[in-house]
Amino acid sequence: MGVVKKIAGPAVIAENLADAKMFDIVRVGNEKLVGEIIRLDGETCFVQVYEDTNGLIVGEPIITTKLPLAVELGPGMLNGIFDGIQRPLDKIREASGMYISRGIEVSSLDRKKKWAFTPMKKAGDTVKGGDVLGTVPEFSFTHKILVPPDQGGKLKSVAAAGEYTIDDTVAELEDGTKLRLAHFWPVRKARPITRKLDPNEPFLTGMRILDVLFPLTAGGTAAIPGPFGSGKTVTQQSIAKFGDADIVVYVGCGERGNEMTDVLVEFPELEDPKTGKPLMERTILIANTSNMPVAAREASLYTGVTIAEYFRDQGYKVSLMADSTSRWAEALREIASRLEEMPAEEGYPPYLSSRLSAFYERSGKVTTLAGDQGAVSVIGAVSPAGGDFSEPVTQATLRITGGFWALDAQLARARHFPAINWARSYSLFLGILESWYRANIAPDYPELRTQLITLLQREADLQQVVQLVGPDALQDAERLSLEIGRIAREDFLQQNGYDKVDANCSMPKAYGMMQMIVAMYKRGEEALAKGASISDFLGDPVIEKMGRTRYVPEAEFPQYKAEFDAQIKNAFMGGVKA
Ligand SMILES: Nc1ncnc2c1ncn2[C@@H]1O[C@H](COP(=O)(O)OP(=O)(O)OP(=O)(O)O)[C@@H](O)[C@H]1O
Ligand SMILES: [Mg+2]
Repeated sequence: MGVVKKIAGPAVIAENLADAKMFDIVRVGNEKLVGEIIRLDGETCFVQVYEDTNGLIVGEPIITTKLPLAVELGPGMLNGIFDGIQRPLDKIREASGMYISRGIEVSSLDRKKKWAFTPMKKAGDTVKGGDVLGTVPEFSFTHKILVPPDQGGKLKSVAAAGEYTIDDTVAELEDGTKLRLAHFWPVRKARPITRKLDPNEPFLTGMRILDVLFPLTAGGTAAIPGPFGSGKTVTQQSIAKFGDADIVVYVGCGERGNEMTDVLVEFPELEDPKTGKPLMERTILIANTSNMPVAAREASLYTGVTIAEYFRDQGYKVSLMADSTSRWAEALREIASRLEEMPAEEGYPPYLSSRLSAFYERSGKVTTLAGDQGAVSVIGAVSPAGGDFSEPVTQATLRITGGFWALDAQLARARHFPAINWARSYSLFLGILESWYRANIAPDYPELRTQLITLLQREADLQQVVQLVGPDALQDAERLSLEIGRIAREDFLQQNGYDKVDANCSMPKAYGMMQMIVAMYKRGEEALAKGASISDFLGDPVIEKMGRTRYVPEAEFPQYKAEFDAQIKNAFMGGVKA
């Protein structure tokens, strides 16, 4: 039996632990606190403890379970709120009562609840890992019961359709292996797939600035860096709600106790726009508050991505949000420093970036073991202190993710929401998505998008001129460019996350709105050429019509746009005879 030699907050150093293996779960002290071996050095073993180590003293025993940290995957996770190592919190929502008594084994899933299982295989069938044994309805979701990825063989028996708990045997292999509705999987090991697929279709978020200017692919990764209060959480919640995914996994790493409480209160109130029911019915929430041990926060990203992979393996599209990965990195830093590891930049351990990759790399669009298609798209918020993007976590993240959605304090202060800075943001997926846009939205979509970017760029350039010499120095044609740029910013890029209609925008509507803006510009130039002035342009009712477009419901939009198209033909002439 091993002995505890040193205790430093969540970190424990032990000696003489027989059979100690990296990443195995250990039970620490007389209270049997749950910990994980995160470093081995000869006879010395470094452990991060997932529970409060207060009261633990040197000399207490430590034993290994010889099993890695794992999650239990099966029916009963949806609508669930868990801590970083999948202990359910839903019954203890109040922030103060967030602790679970120490050393107590709690089951992640409800062991008594019965699920209506419909088999899809029969005795005599041969199954391999990842095959679908049957289905279980869970809210309006069809939960597919998978053969665990590392199992397979000929089925000796399959249970008849009926009600079963997650501990009942629903199938048995000829070698005697019993299969249940749930199985365990270690969180630090990616679940196997048949192969990764090209990320050639978008993950549509419903936010115009993202979907049009900086798109993410289904199975891609994006970072949302932003200073305090710039809109990281609102953006992620909006994507959770409207993003094109069947299942949402939301990992919250709060710094302040009440920040996470907000999520715990707000999330269960979100309505699923697809069904009108609570969004939680297709969501798994992983909540870390500042008063929970930091080791659980370190594990929470891997717990989250493992759960996301499990739903992907059923052939579904999953969106995984992490808010904020900076808080996660701080947990990593704290544990490393308690273990007296050599710090690198700003005190973060040298393996910060490899640990971040180990998380983001588990995203992807894949062919599952069963031969279906599934995807995990990952969106991680980063909260650099003072909004300084040169700090290590932001830098390490942008080297990994394909999308970079930079939130901006100045835009947020100006109430320009989403406060995404279009000059600093980027997407590496534009090229690969181009043919999708041409085939699915419009053949000229990429060109129209380029025109919009040109308008925004021209406005930014002209703004600089205005700041130097004032607006009066501009010609009417330049004033027109300036006004169109403003319209593009205010009526297209801006989106009110709290407006019922504006919060979500389809690609066809976004495309139509781009056409309207470009048409305004073209007609404005024509009118100026025919002798109209910039005040004729500014006084035209068509400008107000454009401004209302984002609040027009999708169903009414085609009619609205047809009216606009008719009006724009003769617009902007003001007092001038056409
Ligand atoms: N899309 C949006 N539409 C309307 N308002 C928004 C939008 N995004 C952000 N806001 C406003 O900005 C405020 C702060 O947003 P949010 O809480 O998401 O910031 P944050 O970056 O997560 O902050 P923190 O660093 O504290 O976590 C919101 O309460 C809301 O008033
Ligand atoms: Mg936030």
